[in-house]
Amino acid sequence: MKVLVFGGTGLLGTDIIEACKDEYKMVKSGSAECDITDAAKVYDFVKTHRPDVVINSAAITDVDKCESDHDTAFKINAMGPKNIAIACRDFNARLMHISTDYVFDGKKGDSYSEFDKPNPINVYGQSKLLGEELVQTSGAKYMIIRTAWIFGSHRKHFVDYVAESITNGTEIVAVKDMVSSPTFSVDLADTIKALIPLNQYGVFHACNKGYCSRVQMVEEIMKIMRKTTRVQVMNQSQWKRPAARPVFSALKNYHLHLMDIDTMAGWRDALKRYIKYKYNV
Ligand SMILES: NC(=O)c1ccc[n+]([C@@H]2O[C@H](COP(=O)([O-])OP(=O)(O)OC[C@H]3O[C@@H](n4cnc5c(N)ncnc54)[C@H](OP(=O)(O)O)[C@@H]3O)[C@@H](O)[C@H]2O)c1
Repeated sequence: MKVLVFGGTGLLGTDIIEACKDEYKMVKSGSAECDITDAAKVYDFVKTHRPDVVINSAAITDVDKCESDHDTAFKINAMGPKNIAIACRDFNARLMHISTDYVFDGKKGDSYSEFDKPNPINVYGQSKLLGEELVQTSGAKYMIIRTAWIFGSHRKHFVDYVAESITNGTEIVAVKDMVSSPTFSVDLADTIKALIPLNQYGVFHACNKGYCSRVQMVEEIMKIMRKTTRVQVMNQSQWKRPAARPVFSALKNYHLHLMDIDTMAGWRDALKRYIKYKYNV
């Protein structure tokens, strides 16, 4: 089976390729190989490679940049998936499209399942939701895989900021009214690999189990590293950013659970494995 990964140079895409390369013939594409906003290029790329499965992990993930540059957000996060879905439909490839907890407004006060109604509160979330809808209505065979707060080795993120601040003894700024489900890219890549051969469709949430605030995440990293540094705790109202974040956007893997195939570990276990591997503690 041949699997083409758009976003194959990113944080998650790199681990998807790593997880799948012994089992499947993998084709990696970053923006240099194929710009997903260029419909004709995407069509030709899929036509040339003729994959059985296409994974779209390409996105603009800078939430604040999306807020100030709507067109770029909607081009990459909505038109991009549409272009890919059209090609998948026409060349009979199954599409696995990666999406986000930020499609929800965070007002439910409990973890979101696939049956909850999205209502994004920032441009990133709106562009990702439109991407989902364009995939769903394209006529392609699709799975949408929503995840949250990814950490892993192939790009810097909040966990690295915290671990490096602890190592260097510098202050950490952490927001307490931001809660979600931290997810290790390696664990998510393993779940995606397991989903590839299944002839499934629909929306799936795939996160490490449980949830925490950014502050609780910092506390857990300090526990794992057995070292502390000063933490400035803030509310979102004090942490001035262009884009609002949902207050509670944790996801539960309900679809995977109903199918008895939810193998994702808890977030504390996943965080420990990552910190031990990356920071040698
Ligand atoms: N990171 C998170 O915390 C998080 C949370 C929830 C959901 N997600 C979702 O998970 C997926 C993967 O995120 P990630 O964190 O792995 O992203 P990432 O590290 O920021 O990587 C983004 C990828 O998209 C590619 N890309 C960007 N613009 C492109 C374009 N115009 N044409 C083709 N490729 C383009 C990049 O290619 P180049 O590097 O070659 O330019 C890169 O491979 C995304 O769908 C994201 O929305 C992420």
